[in-house]
Amino acid sequence: MASSTLICDTEQWKDLKAHVDDIKKTHLRELMGDTERCKSMMVEFDGMLLDYSRQRATLETINKLFKLAEAARLKEKINKMFNGERINSTENRCVLHVALRAPRDADIKCDGKNVVPDVWQVLDKIKEFSERVRSGSWVGATGKALKDVISIGIGGSFLGPLFVHTALQTEPEAIECARGRQLRFLANVDPVDVARNITGLNPETTLVVVVSKTFTTAETMLNARTLREWISSALGSEAVAKHMVAVSTNIPLVEKFGIDPNNAFAFWDWVGGRYSVCSAVGVLPLSLQYGFSVVEKFLKGASSIDQHFYSTPFDQNIPVLLGLLSVWNASFHGYPARAILPYSQALEKLAPHIQQVSMESNGKQVSIDGVVLPYETGEIDFGEPGTNVCSAVGVLPLSLQYGFSVVEKFLKGASSIDQHFYSATFNQNIPVLLGLLSVWNVSFHGYPARAILPYSQALEKLAPHIQQVSMESNGKQVSIDGVVLPYETGEIDFGEPGTNGQHSFYQLIHQGRVVPCDFIGVVKSQQPVYLKGEVVNNHDELMSNFFAQPDALAYGKTPQQLQNENVPQHLIPHKTFPGNRPSFSLLLPSLSAYNIGQLLAIYEHRIAVEGFIWGINSFDQWGVELGKSLASQVRNQLHASCKKGDLVKGFNFSTTTMLKRYLEASAD
Ligand code: F6P
Repeated sequence: MASSTLICDTEQWKDLKAHVDDIKKTHLRELMGDTERCKSMMVEFDGMLLDYSRQRATLETINKLFKLAEAARLKEKINKMFNGERINSTENRCVLHVALRAPRDADIKCDGKNVVPDVWQVLDKIKEFSERVRSGSWVGATGKALKDVISIGIGGSFLGPLFVHTALQTEPEAIECARGRQLRFLANVDPVDVARNITGLNPETTLVVVVSKTFTTAETMLNARTLREWISSALGSEAVAKHMVAVSTNIPLVEKFGIDPNNAFAFWDWVGGRYSVCSAVGVLPLSLQYGFSVVEKFLKGASSIDQHFYSTPFDQNIPVLLGLLSVWNASFHGYPARAILPYSQALEKLAPHIQQVSMESNGKQVSIDGVVLPYETGEIDFGEPGTNVCSAVGVLPLSLQYGFSVVEKFLKGASSIDQHFYSATFNQNIPVLLGLLSVWNVSFHGYPARAILPYSQALEKLAPHIQQVSMESNGKQVSIDGVVLPYETGEIDFGEPGTNGQHSFYQLIHQGRVVPCDFIGVVKSQQPVYLKGEVVNNHDELMSNFFAQPDALAYGKTPQQLQNENVPQHLIPHKTFPGNRPSFSLLLPSLSAYNIGQLLAIYEHRIAVEGFIWGINSFDQWGVELGKSLASQVRNQLHASCKKGDLVKGFNFSTTTMLKRYLEASAD
């Protein structure tokens, strides 16, 4: 395939397009009955087992996907990545995050220079520094050991480290190593996030790590200045040298900020932000918390998959198979989203991290050569650990925590919206308008998802709650009378607080798929932070984004505007924003208990409006039952008396194989 030819113009793509129509006629029930097929759809690597037999694909599909991979010169592209070619052509950079976890004796070149010694120089420096801090030989300005760490950073300088930290927090060796220490992450410029981070910490015993690839990101720099002030107002400005260190590719700016460059940990422009967790971005804060030897194991795990990805034939190659089947699902079946469902609470931050890695990487509108794509790229990623369910029974636990009178205000807020919903005319009725326009977006425009984007860290759990309220209510296939619906109902809801989302999945919502957005902003912050000498305080900085983003989505940016700005011709397609993307903006006066109650009720009623229009029963949830009853069959097999692999019976080939593996391994 010539480099400017689109993959959809190849015979291999067209062949798959024809093939998917056949596959669509076949139910997975039938496919799962073919044991030979299922056997061929299992891959083992280093103790892990991937079963892809429940994909809507046959062995023929997989072969056709391998042919597509050939047409796309996949192997050649993988080799180019590992060989340090500048495959990030629009930024003219190598893509070498694999070098960050390569063994000391590896040779990975960027522009002819082996970068592995540089990587290990920084790793050795982190090991030494983290041991000094952890052992108490590096002390703060008042001579006290630094037992707490706040890592300031956003996007890739936050989500990957947060994911790994959350995953390690309950790992036995890590628990031992972290005893008496705390690691916190400050990402959002929202003063609420600042307040949460510093609450209960003493500047005397706290080390602040400023993590920013560019050292220019507005939120991170403002938060860094805020915490510098927190330290120097308590301990004097000289204390900064002992209490602040940095991770960046931009050491001159680190120095300009006032951090000793000897206390800066470098990484390189060949590491993308969202791929940087294995650089000092993640390794430094995680080593401070858990010790370098725990973090080294994590790096070794990543490196083992790098080797597997680089050298394993495609039919046994886990990342290749997962990637090809994602293309199959997104571009041929037309599935717009992907749910990431770890059955481990320890992986609760996997989905937000993958949102950035995936949606910022693949939510694109043009090919690498700048040709507008006639097919969709990227998936809308979202997810929560299975089997979490939100309990609506809040008044008792909340009253125990905050007292009944606070909770009563929340109830009054909800009730005020109930009255408004019941009696306001439709053209002034917030839930009705929101609901009707949601139906318009889903059923008429065909937009499958909705992003919930509160510009307040205090609302970080709004999206998971609305996922339940909305997706459990309106994710239905039949009308309230049981008639199969010829139209889609419900949206795929996901979201993170702004501005965190901006440094993550907003790429896809600006230039990839169209996702209607709910922007929620607050006039008065719960926790105002005023910084001496700062013109713009944390809350104003946050809200600048709340006001800017909806217009960016609506208006976009045209090639003509870019030309007027003298943007080089070859970058114009990549920097063009189509605009024309819908959103709501909801500005609340404050975030009191009363306002929180109102916000809750607005969503509840809006979702009811959608259900009433779609003619479904928004108040049942039969869809969650089947999985539960199948789980009880499995549970019986797992009962103590059945703890022998050979007793597994009554399941298909795939589940039997998985269960045997589980029982055998857990009996060891
Ligand atoms: O705005 C998106 C982004 O550039 C991400 O790609 C990056 O991870 C994040 O912002 C933070 O950037 P930095 O590490 O330079 O502060």
